[in-house]
Amino acid sequence: MSEISLGRCILAPMAGITGYPFRKISLKYGAEFCFTEMISSEGFLRNDKKTLELLESGAGIAKTGIQLFGNSAAVLSEAAKKAFDAGFKVIDVNAGCPVKKVVKTGAGSALLKDPALFADIACSVRKSVKDAFFTVKFRSGFDFNSVNFIEIGKIAEDYGINALFFHPRTRSQMFGGAADHSQTKKLKESVRIPVYASGDVFTADDALNIMNYTGADGIMFARGAVGKPWIFGDYLNISAAGGRSEKKAPYMTVMSDKIDILLELNEEISSFYGETRGFNVMKPHLYNFLKGFKGSKELRAAVNNAKSGKENAEILEILKTKIAPNEYSEPAG
Ligand SMILES: Cc1cc2nc3c(=O)[nH]c(=O)nc-3n(C[C@H](O)[C@H](O)[C@H](O)COP(=O)(O)O)c2cc1C
Repeated sequence: MSEISLGRCILAPMAGITGYPFRKISLKYGAEFCFTEMISSEGFLRNDKKTLELLESGAGIAKTGIQLFGNSAAVLSEAAKKAFDAGFKVIDVNAGCPVKKVVKTGAGSALLKDPALFADIACSVRKSVKDAFFTVKFRSGFDFNSVNFIEIGKIAEDYGINALFFHPRTRSQMFGGAADHSQTKKLKESVRIPVYASGDVFTADDALNIMNYTGADGIMFARGAVGKPWIFGDYLNISAAGGRSEKKAPYMTVMSDKIDILLELNEEISSFYGETRGFNVMKPHLYNFLKGFKGSKELRAAVNNAKSGKENAEILEILKTKIAPNEYSEPAG
């Protein structure tokens, strides 16, 4: 296997969010690696048009992993081979998606219910892409009565998987309750391969605390990066400084700098998806960014009504020039 480094600070796969434009901007502002959203292994083999759009990575392909989902060892290994041949050197299998539509086909977190099938998939995919960096992203178990993340982690290790991405919630929890990072710590102590922590990483400080507490090899930002792609740079900064320090200027403290990044993201999204689709793709970023921001209520209503990338940009310009021209925002993002 060629030497591949994922770094410590990764953009997690998120369906509907981590398309090419957001991955490109995240890599530009500090993410050391990123993933496509989960891709159907069957759709990929069929050359489904929508699937091919999800894979677009431009020059960032060396820093982009593909995440595949499926329920069949044969199909997943064929898809993994095809992805590797198309240039993806990091291939992840999804064993965590809790969504009914996926679980009822036996894919995503349903794999946790069937460790024998999971082992079969791990073994077949490993054989089909010997030179790839092969990873698995998974949850702690299917429900509270079947918490089996140590078993799954060890199976993965035994079959030569290179790293684990772990979200310590069960499938039945969906996104409820809190991620239990004592489980991440246990997993890290139970396997020799790298473990990356995912779950409730909303700020750079959360990331640093989770890293320190679990001893994980890296951190994945998911919801915490939506509308806030400077979170990666902020994390790298405080991590290098050994913590948030008054002496070390926080990364991207000035509101207008952050808004400029969102304007850049808005432009990337509009040009990639086109005006008729792009404005909706941008909305989760705007909602998240404006959440809790003083005076943003009207702007959030305006986001609701916006029907073009141009209108989205106008909202950001109003915030930048009229509401927060000299404002300093919370450093944590
Ligand atoms: C909108 C959305 C879409 C997601 N899509 C995927 C996906 O395609 N594949 C995956 O492995 N995880 C997916 N996740 C899970 C995240 O990668 C991450 O593990 C989870 O959100 C926990 O991290 P957080 O609490 O810091 O957001 C998704 C999460 C969200 C919020």
